[in-house]
Amino acid sequence: MRSASGVLNLLTQLRRLSTKMSKSSVYVTRPDVDASGLDLLRKSCDVSTWREALPVPREELLRQVVGKDALYCALTDKIDAAVLDAAGPQLKCVSTISVGYEHIDVAECKKRGIRVGFTPDVLTDATAELTVALLLATNRRLLEANKEVYNGGWKSWSPMWMCGQGLKGSRVGLLGFGRIGQEIAARVFAFKPSQITYTTRTARPQEASKINAIHVDFEEMLRESDFIIVCCALTPETKEIFGTEAFAKMKPNCIFINTARGGVVDQKALYDALRTKRIQAAGLDVTTPEPLPLADPLLQLDNVVILPHIGSADIETRKEMSRITARNILAALAGEKMEAEVNK
Ligand code: DGY
Repeated sequence: MRSASGVLNLLTQLRRLSTKMSKSSVYVTRPDVDASGLDLLRKSCDVSTWREALPVPREELLRQVVGKDALYCALTDKIDAAVLDAAGPQLKCVSTISVGYEHIDVAECKKRGIRVGFTPDVLTDATAELTVALLLATNRRLLEANKEVYNGGWKSWSPMWMCGQGLKGSRVGLLGFGRIGQEIAARVFAFKPSQITYTTRTARPQEASKINAIHVDFEEMLRESDFIIVCCALTPETKEIFGTEAFAKMKPNCIFINTARGGVVDQKALYDALRTKRIQAAGLDVTTPEPLPLADPLLQLDNVVILPHIGSADIETRKEMSRITARNILAALAGEKMEAEVNK
């Protein structure tokens, strides 16, 4: 016969065992996301992660995802039917640490009842800030000028040396006027442009009125802008929308900034436009492919500033992105409302 405390002990152990047995399993494709997000998951889930800082190889992802209840991924992972098949029917959620989700086959997820989480809003300010930094680095030729300091090209202060094109009095056109576009526009407004325009399928007069921005069609934006800023999502409609034809319509002094997705641009056409000075300069935080190979001809040009996709790379932003990605998973596993769910 067991004593009452012996029975209690046994019950506690059984309860622990059953909690352990019923724990959901999550695979995380990046070991280097901020630990605060992983800690949240570890409280109630079995968490396994890819171990290296570079993206998980496809074969490894297909192996590791087997039997998992949720997948914590990044924009470097292609999540398609093959990954979902490999995971199995118990997979309930795919949560990406990004606002962009073109790397996920959302339709395929929805068909299988798999919920998709993402991280909008939290990175809006960081991305807008970086866009303005890139714009200023490009129009005021900061990288070119900085090189001259180190290579002996700086001989004296010189009246017209390293001059760039100011934003004041210029016409700035944005392709896209969502959360990020609006925050970029608000910051650009402080530089006193003559006009801000935006191109979207539907006009957004209320949001635009704060900065007197006007809605124009794509053709007008190309023709009239001194600065063009790309801040739209990559969709079949926007894929390579900036090609030879578009660059041919731009003003020769036009400065082209892209912090959205490399796929929006036909990069060969952009290279030609920059090399022949068809347009003045470009600032790119995104390219195709990423990383850009060291032998890419774009890297030979002086009139382009290229950054390694760091739009949202602000410490607090990336920490919160890690937590939102985790909270999205926890909510999906509990069958609750997710903080940010892709509803397409
Ligand atoms: C995103 O979130 O989609 C950005 O491109 C990277 O943070």
